Amino acid sequence: MTTTMLEVNELSTKYITRFREDVYAVDKVSLKVEEGKSLGIAGESGCGKSTLALSLMGYYFPPLHYTSGDIIINGKNISGLNPDHVRKTILGKEIAYIPQAAMNALNPTRKIIHFIEDVILEHEMYVNKKDIYERAKKLFETLGLPPEVLQRYPVELSGGMKQRTVIAISVLLLPKVLIADEPSSALDVTSQKMVIKMLKHLMEAGFISSMIFITHELPLLYNVVDDIMVMYAGQIVEKGTSHEMVFDPIHPYSKGLMGSIIVPEEGLRDVKLTAIPGVPPNLKKPPAGCRFAERCKFVRPECRVISVPYREAGNGRVYRCIIPEAELREAYSREERTK
Ligand SMILES: Nc1ncnc2c1ncn2[C@@H]1O[C@H](COP(=O)(O)OP(=O)(O)O)[C@@H](O)[C@H]1O
Ligand code: SF4
Ligand SMILES: [Mg+2]
Repeated sequence: MTTTMLEVNELSTKYITRFREDVYAVDKVSLKVEEGKSLGIAGESGCGKSTLALSLMGYYFPPLHYTSGDIIINGKNISGLNPDHVRKTILGKEIAYIPQAAMNALNPTRKIIHFIEDVILEHEMYVNKKDIYERAKKLFETLGLPPEVLQRYPVELSGGMKQRTVIAISVLLLPKVLIADEPSSALDVTSQKMVIKMLKHLMEAGFISSMIFITHELPLLYNVVDDIMVMYAGQIVEKGTSHEMVFDPIHPYSKGLMGSIIVPEEGLRDVKLTAIPGVPPNLKKPPAGCRFAERCKFVRPECRVISVPYREAGNGRVYRCIIPEAELREAYSREERTK
């Protein structure tokens, strides 16, 4: 029997700017992550990935506001809970989040061990610093990090080591769900690989029960996560297994994302460098109908007016387009032939 670690049903959230404008950054997003599984979320910058990550934790503070939907973590519905209660009982333990660029946000005047003390002392009252040090040392050793790092300041560590340290700190309380937001961006290729290897090891070693990996590079997720969702303009446009989404995307946006990056990983060498023309829409006034219409080569007049339904493509695979899968595939093959 599988246990669902995170279930989100039709979650919508928005920012309210200081000019009192609404930014509809997450629109009716549903997802599920089972125990022992990892989910990748891909999409260009500004598509709402980080906002979705913040929204999933149920920890809302202005300018971000909850609108509707359910968030169920390890069987507990946390939607609508008081943010203070969420901070004390949910964050770090049930769900942990490594924000984008977290490694650069470490206070430079404090040693790594002090960040660890903060996390543990926030949740456990009767624990002394010597015990915390021993626990931290063991954690670092298990995760393949040198324990000497505990006595260093953030500026004394390389980017890759700093990021791996941040990841180690985030799993101190053994969270059920870990969300890593662009954890390997801004690192060199070797450090990127080490960070990804460490994230994969966390589940095998029992530090976390499930993981969400966010990136703007869809091909990067291949070999890292089990399933992938592609997000565009605050909405999910396609979901499938990692292999299906990377090698056989159905939605025109997923197809475009696959063609836009080269990742020097086995099997992905043939990906061609072609950016998707145009930019995502302004989420203050999202377009009616399909939000990708402005940039889609297959756009039809009805795409701009009807609410586009999700279609099933077998095996739990889902995509959101008015064109049936077979027709899209035929169009992709035609394009291939004329290249
Ligand atoms: N603090 C904020 N206030 C208002 N709008 C925001 C704020 N943060 C992000 N946004 C907007 O929300 C949308 C989604 O942003 P974000 O979640 O950061 O996307 P991603 O992580 O995919 O790059 C964008 O249109 C962005 O401009
Ligand atoms: S619904 Fe229309 S505009 Fe949107 S992806 Fe499909 S064909 Fe393109
Ligand atoms: Mg982001």
